[in-house]
Amino acid sequence: MIKKEKNIFSLHTLNTSYIMRVSEKGHLEHLHYGARIHQKHFDTLQPIVRKPWSGHPDNDGSDYTLESMLLEYPVFGQTDYRLPALTLAAPYNNLNLVFDDFDILEDKVMLDGLPCGSNAPTLHIHLVDKHMKLKVTLMYSVYEKEDVITRAVRISNLTEHNIHIEKIMSTSIDFRDKDYEMIHLSGTWARERHVVKRKLVQGIQGIESNRGNSSHQHNPFVCLARKGTTEDFGDAYGCSLVYSGNFKAEIEVDAFEQTRLNMGIHPDHFTFEVKPNESFDSPEAVMTYSYKGLNGMSQNCHAFIKNRILRGKYKHQPRPVLLNNWEATYFDFTEEKLLALADKAAQVGVELFVLDDGWFGERNNDQTSLGDWFVNMKKIPKGIDGLSKAINEKGLKFGLWVEPEMVSPKSILYQNHPEWCLHAGDRTRSECRNQLILDYSKLEVQEYIIHHLTEIFKSGNIEYVKWDMNRSVTEVGSTLYHHGEVLHRFILGLYQVMKVLTERFPNILFEGCAGGGGRFDMGILYYMPQIWTSDDTDAYERIKIQHGTSFMYPQVTMGSHVSAVPNHQVDRFTSLSSRYHTAIFGNLGYELDLTSLTEEDLQIIKAQIGAYKSVRSELQYGTFYRLISPFEGNFAAWQISGEQNVYVYYSRGIASPNDSIRYIKLKDLKPKTAYSLNGEVYTGDYLMHIGITVLPKKGDYGTEFYQLNILD
Ligand code: DGJ
Repeated sequence: MIKKEKNIFSLHTLNTSYIMRVSEKGHLEHLHYGARIHQKHFDTLQPIVRKPWSGHPDNDGSDYTLESMLLEYPVFGQTDYRLPALTLAAPYNNLNLVFDDFDILEDKVMLDGLPCGSNAPTLHIHLVDKHMKLKVTLMYSVYEKEDVITRAVRISNLTEHNIHIEKIMSTSIDFRDKDYEMIHLSGTWARERHVVKRKLVQGIQGIESNRGNSSHQHNPFVCLARKGTTEDFGDAYGCSLVYSGNFKAEIEVDAFEQTRLNMGIHPDHFTFEVKPNESFDSPEAVMTYSYKGLNGMSQNCHAFIKNRILRGKYKHQPRPVLLNNWEATYFDFTEEKLLALADKAAQVGVELFVLDDGWFGERNNDQTSLGDWFVNMKKIPKGIDGLSKAINEKGLKFGLWVEPEMVSPKSILYQNHPEWCLHAGDRTRSECRNQLILDYSKLEVQEYIIHHLTEIFKSGNIEYVKWDMNRSVTEVGSTLYHHGEVLHRFILGLYQVMKVLTERFPNILFEGCAGGGGRFDMGILYYMPQIWTSDDTDAYERIKIQHGTSFMYPQVTMGSHVSAVPNHQVDRFTSLSSRYHTAIFGNLGYELDLTSLTEEDLQIIKAQIGAYKSVRSELQYGTFYRLISPFEGNFAAWQISGEQNVYVYYSRGIASPNDSIRYIKLKDLKPKTAYSLNGEVYTGDYLMHIGITVLPKKGDYGTEFYQLNILD
């Protein structure tokens, strides 16, 4: 999987190759990333030589220039003027990185304090700047089966003075041309991860977050798809980060129509001091390529996340059907109300009861008490222990909501430690949802939270925790560190707190959340195997959100709930079956007041949950395909292929009169295999080339769900 022959390094997965060469002057050239290539010699692939206005390193009279060479880890200072991957603060801002040495390792060296993909064969290429004794180690891990290569960078300061990193990209990939479309997942709160496509043009384009979290606005994922690529055919590259903080993906098309993609920590508001003999690790970037179009690319990402990022007890386990009380009661609940909800939940077959926000301190609205992690005995008189026992006695597991990175100015914690929140000197501390952010770069803050959450998690039989985070950063500063280090140190502190608590409580199923999907990334998934996808629970809106999310993330990571109508976010009415059909293409939950439903609706829900449980392992872990995009018209369709069944979702959006018959063409079935559907038997080739017939129906926002049994 990792080869070094003469001056060529090549990495190979099942279907992809990544090839680099040490140039005549020691620079690491990028030769190829993409389809698997068996070629061993690349002599004809000479660096393109430019004369007019190009600079030539070493003044040796040759035409050699970095200006248009494809480079593996570009820096400023010696004839390359495109976006650099690494910048140090002046006076060390001129760099010249050349090859020094390499190691091929059977075991991956884990990153310092950062989550990353699991163990895999790894190549370290050491570059040095001889002038200033800087060592830059490029770390590549090869995931053969998943067709994924990861990259990270370690900067080692071998000088005798401090250096300050101002920009460190986790990956930088130079492409030979510019004929790509950039696809990214953008939106805002309650409208996360909508698919956006644009053609690359000369100049710089990109996405980023400067909010302290990976953000609702731009997910840390970018795809470059060859012109004309569809869901099934064409070259598609995916690139993402195992990181939950500020990030930037920048793409530059240069004057010679070459493309550079850099992705890493956002360089704005970032600087990091590295002392002599110390080192700094970048977060890990995850890269994949597929010639099988966007579905192929997504399936590689899904396999990588399922096999290499998710960990712990729930990695392969069917996820429980839950009832969350948030949209049922918001802050306005009593123990009696919770138990009444739990009664109904148990009756319909729910397995886990989740008590959301409002159970602690004086928290009867969002204006108070974050940080005061002790039970409000007025609302929960027998405490977490008593409540969890009562819930358990009904045959349900018990789960709890927390928002541990926050503090309300109206809280005991803030009164005692006003210096513990992120702030910049005497500047006003801007509130958002009436709250401030604890400074997790501080050890005592981490210890306080670990201690108090440990006490809470021990205080009853808690088997699930929803870890929320409801605002972006402002006034970034610290009394301990250079302001430019704070946000990265915040994320390192967050990961440390998550590491301790998830290791201390291995039986708890953790679900990440950030006002819905404001931090849907692999950094969180490394600690928490599922994430609340969006605060928008409307079944119709959810189609776009889940469709977009599936570009990078597998369905087993997406919390997805049936909620009340009219929907609380958009006031829309959708049928119970549409809400259920959409929700089962993530991890099914309910989030509505079951005590206010009719007996008929409760019976429908009971039947839904029963049907779901019998096939949920396949629904949650099967291979996911996008069939029809809701971003391209009124309809949407998805497919999940399991070992025994194939499942198909179809949404018809807004009804139109006298509508046409439509056909859903399935993917990747075995042509001669028989599949049964509603008493009829179809061959795989029929279903792929003619498709499932869908008759027109009246009514907006209707959905269909098909379960095809594989017969032989
Ligand atoms: C935002 C979350 O996304 C919601 O599901 C809910 O937990 C609220 N926070 C509670 O404040």
